[in-house]
Amino acid sequence: MTEDRSLIEALNEAQAFMEERLDGRRPRIGLILGSGLNPLAERVEGAVLIPFGAVPHMGVSTATGHVGQFVVGTLGGVEVCCMQGRLHGYEGYTAQEVAFPVWLMAALGAEILVTTNAAGGINEGFNVGDFCLMADQINFTGRNPVTGTAPDALAPRFFSMLDAFDPLLCAEALAVAEELSLGSVMREGVYLGLLGPSFETPAEIRMFRSWGADTVAMSVCEEVIAARHVGLRVLGMSLVSNMACGVEGASPSDEEVHEVAATRQADLCRYMTALVPRLMLV
Ligand code: HPA
Repeated sequence: MTEDRSLIEALNEAQAFMEERLDGRRPRIGLILGSGLNPLAERVEGAVLIPFGAVPHMGVSTATGHVGQFVVGTLGGVEVCCMQGRLHGYEGYTAQEVAFPVWLMAALGAEILVTTNAAGGINEGFNVGDFCLMADQINFTGRNPVTGTAPDALAPRFFSMLDAFDPLLCAEALAVAEELSLGSVMREGVYLGLLGPSFETPAEIRMFRSWGADTVAMSVCEEVIAARHVGLRVLGMSLVSNMACGVEGASPSDEEVHEVAATRQADLCRYMTALVPRLMLV
């Protein structure tokens, strides 16, 4: 898929393959479920499961806890295409390969992308277990999925990243959190994404804090750029699975990320199931 000139062809083939499996289903929302957040897909009703590896030109998930399949069906009465797991740059995927399923979900009919992950808390006012809506992002991966000539054929090369995360969707997400009594654990902040897979150093975290970053992780930024490239509205939310390296002596680990995610799954599932239909009204 990595050849620029074949991107459109690859997308067309993947779309045709998915549409045949989906038998007329047309997802309105694409939902990417990150580390430890995969179980939400079990709430999807009438689900059609399509392993990433079965889809032409898609990479497969190699990250812990990432099932690596599309789950298409209804959540809260809305047709969704969940990615139970995602592709990361640290797995060796190019930015375009990471973005491929986002462009694919848009081709299948999605108008909104909801992207979630587990992230380290840089903001010292945050607590482990909080949720954090992304108000903006700092793409520190050093990569961009829209480089090259092929994405140009999908949509114009230059596009604004003002309001990359849709303020109206974000406001609705805050309102739903209040209604479900999750307001006290719902934060809003600037997300910084980098390549990984090493966690950051304390010096890097201090620098990121001085730049205005509140959370940090190894995903999301390239997906958001790809989504904005083709005009999807985006909502992003992290689970603060750990405090970032050096914050009160923290030294993050993959195990900690998954342990904390497991304790927050029930709230996350309840919240997303209520939120998804509300996003369609905004
Ligand atoms: N840093 C980077 N990625 C992460 C972290 C972190 O602290 N927590 C979860 N993913």
